[in-house]
Amino acid sequence: MQLERDRTIEVVSEASDGRQTVEQVRALRPNVVLLESAITGLDSIAVIEQIDTISPETAVIMFLEGADMDLMRRSMRAGAFDCLSRPFSQEELVSTIKTAYQSTARAREALVAVPVPVAKARGEIIAVYSPQGGAGKSMLSANLAVAMAKAAGEGGHPPRVALVDLNLQFGDIDLMLNLSPQNTIAGLAQKGHGGIDAELLEQYLTLHTESGLRILVAPSTPQYAESITVYTVEQVMETLRENYDVIVVDTPSQLQDTTLAVLDAAKTILLLASLDLLALHKTRTALEMLRQLYAPEKIQVVLNRANSDVGISLDDVQSVLNVPLRAQIPSDGRIVVTSINEGKPFVLHNSQTVIAKQINKLAMELLGRETEALEAGAARGNGSFLKKLFK
Ligand SMILES: Nc1ncnc2c1ncn2[C@@H]1O[C@H](COP(=O)(O)OP(=O)(O)OP(=O)(O)O)[C@@H](O)[C@H]1O
Ligand SMILES: [Mg+2]
Repeated sequence: MQLERDRTIEVVSEASDGRQTVEQVRALRPNVVLLESAITGLDSIAVIEQIDTISPETAVIMFLEGADMDLMRRSMRAGAFDCLSRPFSQEELVSTIKTAYQSTARAREALVAVPVPVAKARGEIIAVYSPQGGAGKSMLSANLAVAMAKAAGEGGHPPRVALVDLNLQFGDIDLMLNLSPQNTIAGLAQKGHGGIDAELLEQYLTLHTESGLRILVAPSTPQYAESITVYTVEQVMETLRENYDVIVVDTPSQLQDTTLAVLDAAKTILLLASLDLLALHKTRTALEMLRQLYAPEKIQVVLNRANSDVGISLDDVQSVLNVPLRAQIPSDGRIVVTSINEGKPFVLHNSQTVIAKQINKLAMELLGRETEALEAGAARGNGSFLKKLFK
């Protein structure tokens, strides 16, 4: 149909699939969207719901193949303005578009009159990865995320922080933070089959009350892992980015496609290394692979159990990996193990220990809070403990 011929209608964009439609609505905020019921990429109902959330003043007109009453009802319930069954005439289409435009004009005026004062979320993803099992990924992710969530408010609100446990088979963040989750990512994958939006996702996050951190917990048993697809993970990441400043992701050591999806989406990958020859070898292999995929500044190496006296020095690590270390976290079995056993993150409960201060410092740096990072670092004499151990 030649909509361009009607001088009162301006075609601002065309999209080839559901996902693109949602993206373009977000960017362009059109008055009217014409939607084919048989689109690809996302289910059409999910597209209507997402448009309704991100741009409620946009009217959706859905094209149906014949009189599909069930689909029509579902579309209207999801927030469509009207449905047109094929075949229909050019006049019918133009008149439906005009009615839709006029009916939603009031909503648009209200929107112009009352600007929404909510600051845009920063939406930065920080993935914690290591090819080595037991490297300390979960310990670091949990404490880093808690430290960030507890950071003081800036510009009116404290940072909004989410933590995702991507260990789909054997996730343990819920134990580390002593949570009793009602919902997990498995339930979300099932419920959000047709598309995940912010409202649905919020229902599946578990609150860590002490810090305000929100966590998407891993499935309760390994057999659910398979039900979580790359697409689900991508949608979770995309949706979290809209409402959270920082999203920390704890990953498994195997490079599954879901892990890669998160590494792709991440702004920063914290690659954990340790003073263990085999682990170091794996870290180097992983680093080489990541370097081929991503910009060098995206990959930052963090040394865990940095003060263990094991015959490998800090210089050895730097020369094997050929990168500077972003941070060093000391070994402290008593603090870490007690913290995990009690489900109390040590950055909150033992905040004066060196390990807590190191993680706090890294958290503040990653948040861009340089002054607070300096304060956190100053208390321990700026790394002198390592210099003493490795001199
Ligand atoms: N800096 C540290 N000092 C002392 N113990 C530590 C330190 N870091 C980690 N640990 C201990 O090592 C064990 C493994 O840590 P964690 O579970 O965080 O590793 P992971 O990389 O997430 O493991 P997985 O690959 O199984 O997910 C835990 O029992 C933890 O107590
Ligand atoms: Mg882990």
